[in-house]
Amino acid sequence: MDKYYYITTPIYYPSAKPHMGHAYSSIVSDVFARFKTIDGYKVHFLTGTDEHGQKIERAAKEKQMDPLAFCNEISKTFKDLCSLLNLSNTDFIRTTENRHKISVQHLWNELEKSGDIYLSKYSGWYSVSDEAFYHEDEIETKNNQKISISSGSKVEWVEEESYFFKLSKWQDKLIEHYEKNPDFILPKSRKNEVISFVKSGLKDLSISRKSFSWGIKVPSNHEHVIYVWLDALTNYLSALKYPEVSNMLYKNFWPVDVHIIGKDILRFHAIYWPAFLLAANIPLPKRVYGHGWILSGEEKMSKSKGNILDPIEIIDNYGLDPLRYYLIKEVSFGNDGNISKKKLEDCINSDLANNYGNFCQRVTAFAEKNCDSTIPDQIEFTYQDKKILNNYSDNINNLRKFIDEQKLNNYVHFIANALFDANKYFNDQEPWKKKNDKKRLNTIVYTSLDLIRKVSILLYPIIPSSSKKSLKIFNINEKDIFFDTIKDHKYLKSKSKILKTDILFKKITK
Ligand code: ME8
Ligand code: MG
Repeated sequence: MDKYYYITTPIYYPSAKPHMGHAYSSIVSDVFARFKTIDGYKVHFLTGTDEHGQKIERAAKEKQMDPLAFCNEISKTFKDLCSLLNLSNTDFIRTTENRHKISVQHLWNELEKSGDIYLSKYSGWYSVSDEAFYHEDEIETKNNQKISISSGSKVEWVEEESYFFKLSKWQDKLIEHYEKNPDFILPKSRKNEVISFVKSGLKDLSISRKSFSWGIKVPSNHEHVIYVWLDALTNYLSALKYPEVSNMLYKNFWPVDVHIIGKDILRFHAIYWPAFLLAANIPLPKRVYGHGWILSGEEKMSKSKGNILDPIEIIDNYGLDPLRYYLIKEVSFGNDGNISKKKLEDCINSDLANNYGNFCQRVTAFAEKNCDSTIPDQIEFTYQDKKILNNYSDNINNLRKFIDEQKLNNYVHFIANALFDANKYFNDQEPWKKKNDKKRLNTIVYTSLDLIRKVSILLYPIIPSSSKKSLKIFNINEKDIFFDTIKDHKYLKSKSKILKTDILFKKITK
């Protein structure tokens, strides 16, 4: 039976070029997607851009551009970032595509049919930057400016005719869902925030706007455009060809396994989105994971603060895989994390250059000299060898569980420890002193080579191109990388040649 896995990133606003925060969500999602791929799943990994609404309309106006032309230009920089970050995404959706419009209008009609939509008048605060409505008690005044307390962005007063979604009607059903599915919202700390917000009482949600036109029209009333969040959230379905629910994409991949998002947009994903889906009688996502922020200094990166970290610059200076490894290892997933050059350089030098790259180099050079570049046979494992090899088989299901529960740090710490142990093993066994005991020397080399193979497989989701390079030692190609093969050393073929590898990571010296 085929196994399926569907994972999504947020679709980003192409109001400005992508920054490190966007790169972070995408890289993290890629790690899960790649892990699942090498664990035998058919993976659908979706990302894209969120192109409608007032925020984009205004950004285009500032540049004196037509909104679509503006989106075409910036959406492309997000698409280019996917290749630059070496993402394995299987689709890239733009909300200005026709396939998306069809889904959104269909969903709207479903909500109308179920009696969840009514026409009324909205008067209240709106933040164009967040594309969010705020209640009076969610805003404050700072320097004579009304701003949202939670996001700090400017709000403006809006008063217009609007369609509403009966969000209040779904309050109890939502709470029931959170209670029955304790892992629906992760991490746990954020789940509690959501639940208490819902328990404090949900008001009906304004879901259309009349005062501008850059959006998808309400099917039954073209004077209104559909609220950009209802539009945007539907991307997760439109990419599966919803409403064609009998097509294979929808059948295999819905409900989604996990929406990876930042904590700033948890409310939309954990409250509004499931409420829309409940109303339309569509199964709910299995999980919404709201990760923390990448901080620049002590603050959240934002265009208005002018403290944007540019992933392209860091990649140019240090390389992609070091950045990917660093973001996964040093940011505690779920919490906010700081980026610093010093920590990045330390990470490159110790984990990647020394513990991984140098280990691959040393072992293969030794095998070249002493084993004729061949994976040895005639081996006999001792307790030491078995112990270090079995650590992988003993933990194989824990590692799977870490990924399924989004415990990225546990996953990467297993790898960091495994690298430390592998180096220690090679040093302690001193194969260079075993030239008179061929069997022992062979066994140490075989074991060390298998450690390279195993740890490279574990590293593949995080640093795919470096891992691919080291697996070339054994002539393993990308399509032949299977996570399950870490359970046994028999996958390493005695008597076959090992190929030379380049230096994987250059040490940074000052
Ligand atoms: O909110 N640290 O788009 P957006 C970590 N279009 N992650 C960050 C980050 C930071 N400093 N800054 C941004 C939108 N992100 C909507 C989403 S989804 C149906 C619609 C990441 O361009 C994080 O994932 O403002 C955050 O939730 C997302 O980018 C917001 O991107
Ligand atoms: Mg934002």
